[in-house]
Parts: sequence; C-alpha cells; structure tokens
Amino acid sequence: MTIEEIKQEVAEHALHPLSGDLVMAAFYKATKILLDQDDRLLSLIKKINSKRQMSSEYFNNLLLRAVQNVVLFSLDANYPLGFESQDRWTQTWNEILEKHSDRLIDLIVAKDTKTTVPERYLSLRFLAKILFPHKSIIVADLGCGLNLGLDYAFLTKHIVLDLKDHTAAKLVLQILSSVPSSLKVAHAVDRENPSDFEVKKWELSCRYPNELINVKTKLQLIASLPANQEKIKFINQDLSHLEEIWENKKISPHSCDIVFVATAIYQMPPKLQSKIILQARNLLNSHGVLVVQDFGRIDPKNPENLTFKASFAQPFSYRTFITSQKLGWKFKEIFRWSSGRCREVMEGSDWNDFAKDIKL
Ligand SMILES: C[S@@+](CC[C@H](N)C(=O)[O-])C[C@H]1O[C@@H](n2cnc3c(N)ncnc32)[C@H](O)[C@@H]1O
Repeated sequence: MTIEEIKQEVAEHALHPLSGDLVMAAFYKATKILLDQDDRLLSLIKKINSKRQMSSEYFNNLLLRAVQNVVLFSLDANYPLGFESQDRWTQTWNEILEKHSDRLIDLIVAKDTKTTVPERYLSLRFLAKILFPHKSIIVADLGCGLNLGLDYAFLTKHIVLDLKDHTAAKLVLQILSSVPSSLKVAHAVDRENPSDFEVKKWELSCRYPNELINVKTKLQLIASLPANQEKIKFINQDLSHLEEIWENKKISPHSCDIVFVATAIYQMPPKLQSKIILQARNLLNSHGVLVVQDFGRIDPKNPENLTFKASFAQPFSYRTFITSQKLGWKFKEIFRWSSGRCREVMEGSDWNDFAKDIKL
C-alpha cells in the first residue's frame, strides 16, 4: 500500500462512510486533512508498512478499529458520544499521536478485524434445514470470532427477523421462520479464545461507531456471554495448521455434515486461503458440505477455488458459497448479502439450480 492509495481510501470513506455512519465520516475527514499536514501520521504509517503487508482498504479498516480501541479504553469511555465533529477527531488524533502511537502501531500490525455478527449465521441456519432436513448434524465453525453464531443458527428456537429477502417467494424468510435443525455436536474454532476479556474488548473496538452507543452495557453483556456450551465446544487452533485439528484428535476427520467459514478467509494471505479451502474438505463426511461466506468470488480459472479481492465497501460483495463431493468440489454461489451485516439478501448466481429441488 502507498500513501497515495491510503489517501484515496480515506477520502472515499469520508464521503461515503459504511452504513452512513456520521462518526465514521468525521473520523475520515479529520484523518484526510492530517494525512496532508502531519508528518507524525505519515511516519506512523511508514512504520506499519515496514512491519506488515496489506491492502490500503484493509489498512483503513484496521486504522479506525485501532483508534476506536485507544479511544474507548484509554481516552473516553463514552465514545462515540460527541465524536460526530471533525474538530473532536483532530483533537483526539493529536492526543493519540502524542501519547499512544506505539500502541496504535502494535494493534494495526498484530490484529485482524474481529466483528462477530450473529445474522451472518442465518445462511447456515437456512442451509442446514435445506440440506439435512431430517438429521441431527455435526457442524464446525472455523474462525468463530466471539462464538455467537452457532447458538444463533441452531439453539435459538425463534429468532426475531429483520431481514429484507429478495429471493423468489421470500424463501429464506419462510425457512428461517421455522424451528432450526437439530444439532448433534458443534465445534467452534479460532486462534483467539472468545472467553479472553482482551479478545472481547478488541471485538468491541471492531464494531461500527453507531453500534457502540451503549458501550458500558455492551461490555457487561459481552462479559457475561457463555463461550462454551454443552453442544458448542471451543477449540483454540490457528487455521494455518488446520491439519493439527485431526492429528491432535480435536475433530475427527470425515465427521462433519457442515463446515462453515465466515468472514475469516479474506483476512489471510492468498496461499493460505486456498490451502484452508482444500484442507477443510477433510473434515467433511461423504455427504458433507463446505460453506464459505466472505468477500469472495468463484475463481473463473478454477471453480474449486475462491478469490478474495472483492471490496467490502461494494454493496452485495459479501456472498455465500457451497461446495461438496457431490458437486465435484466446484463452488456454487447461493446468496449475495447487501453487506457483512447481513440485513438484506438476494439470490446468488447458482440459486436457481440450487432451489429447484426444494420442497416446502
Ligand atoms: C471477522 S471475524 C468473523 C467472526 C464470525 N465468523 C463472523 O463472521 O461473524 C474473523 C475471525 O477469524 C479469525 N481468524 C483469522 N485468521 C485466523 C487464523 N489463521 N486461524 C484461526 N482464526 C483466524 C479471527 O481471530 C476472527 O475471530
């Protein structure tokens, strides 16, 4: 990433902040001016650039989250209240660059975005009902974040749905309004333990400002969330060594009906992305289905692979793909979501083929 690329990204976010967030717009406006005037910010970016390679889009994403972490936990626990003005951000940037720049660098170099959104698991709830209607199933969630999704997909009997469904006959809403599939065993895997309070604090810093309005209550809420449940076992494992999962007998090979990987692969280096897609197959039984949901596309040169270059600011670039032995391991695109918040869904390019055999 170059300073010019970062400036372009910042200018774009200042004009069109994600989900129209006013605090985010003010942050990027102040940052834009600083990038032209303040050498301290430029030297901070240079230091980060020498320690970690990433796209300017991902850098900007992490920059806001790292700044939010410093503000929330060191400067002003009432954040985002009062941060709708550019002046407030200019003042805050000064404080950060004076006293907290090392911490900001450490966070951006070491961390990945961690937002965990239960609605992302609506696709899993839907697919489990369609693919395994009469079975109690075994599921693995790779890159589970705070481990809130499996509970939402399987153990919450009735969910309150605020979903705009553009599929024919609103099929998604029809299926989701019934009780979920039954779960035999669920494995939730991540390299960071969701019961660690520091991990929870970082997840909080990764949310949009307008999702942080009542932070104190949210911290208490998150602190009380159970990370382990009888049917949902957390496994601490880095996915870059996924083979250790079966070698160390944490999950038996060929045992899962569904392996779900949401919003995790786009964060990884390209070589690791295709390795994980291939290795995850090893966890599936012969009827098992791999579901990847991410800012991805089916690789036109190799439909057994996905690419992850899509911009997360582009509407409907967050998508759900399935693949299985039965599909010859070719990926099929089932859903397109308006954003990673999953409040609006439309049919993916392979929907008609997928939906033609569904009987209600
Ligand atoms: C954005 S969160 C997604 C959480 C949840 N799946 C969702 O979609 O709401 C990405 C998660 O992937 C995890 N992750 C990223 N790279 C990983 C790796 N190499 N091994 C294990 N977990 C990883 C991160 O720790 C983080 O919890």
